[in-house]
Amino acid sequence: MKINLAHIKKAKKYLDKNECIAIPTETVYGLAGNAYSDDACRKIFRLKKRPKFNPLIVHYYNYNDLKNDCILNKNFFKLYKKFCPGPVTFILTLKKKSKISKIATNRKMALAVRFPKHSVTRNLLKKIEFPLAAPSANISTQLSPVCSNDVKEDFGKKIKFVLEGGRSSIGIESTIIDIRDKPQILRLGGIDVINIEKILNKKIIVNNSPTKISAPGQSKIHYSPGIPIRLKAKKAKNKEAFLFINKRKKTQSNYYFLSKKGNLNEAAKNLYSTLRKIKKNKYKSIAVAKIPNKGMGKTINDRLTRASKF
Ligand code: TXA
Ligand code: MG
Repeated sequence: MKINLAHIKKAKKYLDKNECIAIPTETVYGLAGNAYSDDACRKIFRLKKRPKFNPLIVHYYNYNDLKNDCILNKNFFKLYKKFCPGPVTFILTLKKKSKISKIATNRKMALAVRFPKHSVTRNLLKKIEFPLAAPSANISTQLSPVCSNDVKEDFGKKIKFVLEGGRSSIGIESTIIDIRDKPQILRLGGIDVINIEKILNKKIIVNNSPTKISAPGQSKIHYSPGIPIRLKAKKAKNKEAFLFINKRKKTQSNYYFLSKKGNLNEAAKNLYSTLRKIKKNKYKSIAVAKIPNKGMGKTINDRLTRASKF
């Protein structure tokens, strides 16, 4: 994507003043602020209506910038080398001397860290002198935004500036892995767990529905388009939209598909925008036909299951 330097300059100006702006990433758009500033972090919580106990994820340009904030280990470097920048978030131990705002971490000694790949945001991260706290740029429990317009729809003028970055290429949030001790996946996401297992050379526990919630992305209601969702549906009821993984031979006006030929990566990319479209078209609920539970299909099913708890 061509980088508009005037836009980057404007974004930097707001961030330097501890204001919040929206930034594009390859997964979803983030609501960003200076992670070293209590003030900026407080604004993020307020805008998102996010519960205070839910810590913020922090974005860095590269691991050099992270050294002062977190303890890095072997597993981190293995995964970093292979997947970063990219759609993976690490839970790491915070260093005592770290300048990360206590508001961002909810006073915990752990930090969620990501290195986004989007060229516009990388350009911005290189130019600022602090990392960016940036949870997904949506109101808590609702759908994540995959383009600047989605952000504007949710926040209107409440956000000072949306840095344009086109449509997010992955369209679904990062995979979260806690690597402080024995690695465990806390949220399925843009990187298939199988690929992480290959790099770490072992089976990895997926702990995304624990009894005790450590990542609120794990909580029951989330990623909701605001209308009920019914999974593994065979038929659609009256006034229901019918969502399929692939295009049907015989289609009807209430039929929606995620990928013409059922490609799971493409389907993930289209998931949130399709749910938004269905909501805008005034359907009262959504029936979802069975989606294969492999690769990105697992992430799609995870999001739809949580959204169905509406
Ligand atoms: O792809 C992504 O990860 C996007 C883009 C913008 O980077 N961000 C994102 O942020 O999805 P958010 O806040 O919507 O989801 C991050 C998740 C939350 O569920 C939060 O609870 C969890 O990360 N998290 C943050 N800090 C944590 C910590 N110290 N321990 C465990 N989970 C944590
Ligand atoms: Mg989110």
